[in-house]
Amino acid sequence: MAFILDYNLAKTKIREIISKDYNDKLKELVNFLYENFEHYSWIGIYVIKDKHLVLGPWIGPHATEHTKIPVGKGICGSAAATGKTELVDDVKSDSRYLSCFISTKSEIVVPIIKDGKVLGEIDIDSDKKEAFSKDDKMFLERIADMLAEHI
Ligand code: SME
Repeated sequence: MAFILDYNLAKTKIREIISKDYNDKLKELVNFLYENFEHYSWIGIYVIKDKHLVLGPWIGPHATEHTKIPVGKGICGSAAATGKTELVDDVKSDSRYLSCFISTKSEIVVPIIKDGKVLGEIDIDSDKKEAFSKDDKMFLERIADMLAEHI
């Protein structure tokens, strides 16, 4: 059995293992939501890094060009700045909206908060207008709480 005597090398390796696990978990979560909720047309998890939302695991028919959004910008950035869920029934009528997909009609953005600090968010686009109900909001806020414990 070989021992790793270099603590820095060990730290790098452990960091890799931890981040892999974590991204795999998030990927599994977005896949699960996508497969089980028809009105969730695109799902992504953003994580805050240096005052920006950085896109992590996502699922949907197309990639978004908005992979790095400054906090405060767009619907995503607003939710990150206030720590409050944004539920937009009609994206066309919201001037903050950053367009990703031509098919998107409504959007919900749920911040992931731990100890009063926004760590990231769940962003879901729907091809249906007014797709998200109060039940979606409560459900996704509960998931965000669960995620906060594992981020
Ligand atoms: N529409 C978002 C940008 C992210 S995409 O929906 C994936 C916004 O207005 O912030």
